[in-house]
Amino acid sequence: MKDTSAGKYELSPELITVQYKYMEKVAEFIRGDLPSPEKFCYVETYGCQQNEADSETIRGMAIQMGYGICDSAQDADLIVFNTCAVREHAEQRVFGNIGALSHLKKKKPGLVIALCGCMAGEKQVVERIRKSFPYVSMVVNGNALWQLPELLFEVLVSGKKAFAVPEGDGVIAEGLPKHRDRSVKAWLPIMYGCNNFCSYCIVPYVRGRERSRRPDEVIKDAKELLANGAKDITLLGQNVNSYRGGEEGMAFPELITKVAELDGDFRLRFMTSHPKDANDELFKAMAGSDKIARHLHLPFQSGSDRILKLMNRGYSAEHYKALVASARKYMPELVVTGDVIVGFPGETEEDFMQTMALIEEVRYDALFTFIFSPRKGTKAASMTDDTPDEVKKERFARLVKRQNEISAEIHAGYVGRTLEVLVDGESESAEGKLSARTDGGRLVVFEGDNRLIGEFVKVRIEKNTTWSLVGSLV
Ligand code: SAM
Ligand code: SF4
Ligand code: F3S
Repeated sequence: MKDTSAGKYELSPELITVQYKYMEKVAEFIRGDLPSPEKFCYVETYGCQQNEADSETIRGMAIQMGYGICDSAQDADLIVFNTCAVREHAEQRVFGNIGALSHLKKKKPGLVIALCGCMAGEKQVVERIRKSFPYVSMVVNGNALWQLPELLFEVLVSGKKAFAVPEGDGVIAEGLPKHRDRSVKAWLPIMYGCNNFCSYCIVPYVRGRERSRRPDEVIKDAKELLANGAKDITLLGQNVNSYRGGEEGMAFPELITKVAELDGDFRLRFMTSHPKDANDELFKAMAGSDKIARHLHLPFQSGSDRILKLMNRGYSAEHYKALVASARKYMPELVVTGDVIVGFPGETEEDFMQTMALIEEVRYDALFTFIFSPRKGTKAASMTDDTPDEVKKERFARLVKRQNEISAEIHAGYVGRTLEVLVDGESESAEGKLSARTDGGRLVVFEGDNRLIGEFVKVRIEKNTTWSLVGSLV
C-alpha cells in the first residue's frame, strides 16, 4: 500500500510560524497610520466543498493580516478568486469575472487581485493570466496556499508579481487560521488530493497526491467546530474510503465512528465515497451511530461497463448496484445521491441506455448531472469523441427529465411521515417560515420560532412541492 499518511506531507510547525510572522507584517504594512481595519478582502469561491473549506482558510489568514471581510469585489483591496478547473464552463466564468475587474484596478491601483485554487495548477491558465491579465498580481496554486501571507507581503512591499505554482505532490498545512461564516453547518477536510486518475478528471493533476490528515487533528477540529455551535459536520475528501490517517493508518470507518462518538447533538456526513473502495465496513459504521446521516453520495458516472472501463473507475455497474443494495440492507431509510457524466468520448446510445437503466434501478433521491468536458492533460481529452453536441444535449435532457420524475415520486412519498430535521435559517421563499434540511439534504419549510434555528426538530410532512417539503412542527 502506498504511503498516503500525514507524516510524508505535513509541513513543520516552524514553517507555519513563519507564515504567522508574515501575517503580522502584512497587518503592520496595510495598517500604516490608519485605524484598522480599513482594508477589505473579498473571496470568490468556485467549485466543490474542498474549495469552500480552503476559502475559510484564505479568509482566516486575511483577517489575521488585518483585513476586514467584504462581500463585494468593488469594496475590496484584496480580491481572491478561489477557482475550479473541473469543467471548461467554470473556467470561462472566472476569466470573464477577472476581465470585468480591469476598470476597478485602473481606479484603484493599490488593489491586489489573486488567482488561487485549482486553475492555478494548470500551466496554460498560468500562461494566459501572465499574458492577458497583467493586472492580476498573484497566482497561487493549492500547493502554495499556505504561503499566501509571505507572497502577499512581497507583492505589497515590492509592487512586483508573485507567481507561486510549485509542482509536486502537495502538502498538509496544519494550524492556519480559519474564518467560518456558517455556524451550524461546517466543512472538515480529512484528506487532500487524489490518486485515482479517472480518465476525464483534472483533480489529481491540480490537487496533487492523496494525503490524509492525522486523526488527532481531525478530532481536534471537530471538537472545536462543535464547541462553536456546529450541528452538521461534513468530512471532506475526494475519496474518503481510501483515508489512511496517522502512523497506524486509521481507516475511514474507524475515523467516522470516533468523530461520531464526540459529545453533543450533531449530524455527521462525508463526501465523496468512491464505489471501488466503499464496503460493508463503511455501512456498518454508518448504521452503528445515529449521529451519522443516513445519506450516501456515491457517484457512478455511467451505467455502462465499457464506459466505466474507459473512465478508469475500477468497478462495474453490477458491483455498484450490489453496493447500494448492501448499504440499504444496513440502513433501509438511506438517501442515495450520485454524480453522472453524459457524453463521455465514444458513448453510444446503448451505453447511455445502460445509464438510464441504472438510475431506474437505484432510484436516486437526487443526481448531479454533467456533460463531459474535455480537460487538457487528461487521458479522455485525447480520446476520439465523435458524438455530436446535439446528441449529448438530448441525452442529457432525457436523463434529467427522468431523474426529476423519480425525485418527485420519492418526494411525494415523504408526505404523512415525521422527519427529524436541522433548522438552518429563515425560509427565503416562504415568508415567516423556517427552513430546515433532512438527513438527505431535502429542504423542509415549516412555521416556527426563530429560536429553533440551529436545533434538531421533528416535522410532520403535509405536502410536497417540486423543490421542497412543507410540514408542521410536531
Ligand atoms: N472525487 C469525486 C468522485 O470520484 O466521485 C468527485 C469529484 S469531481 C470534483 C465531481 C464530479 O464532477 C465528478 O463526480 C464527475 O461527475 C464530474 N466531473 C469531473 N470531471 C469532469 C469532466 N471532465 N467533465 C464532466 N464532468 C466531470
Ligand atoms: Fe476525479 Fe476520480 Fe479523483 Fe474523483 S476519484 S477526484 S472523479 S480522479
Ligand atoms: Fe473541487 Fe473544482 Fe478543484 S471540483 S477539487 S475545486 S477542480
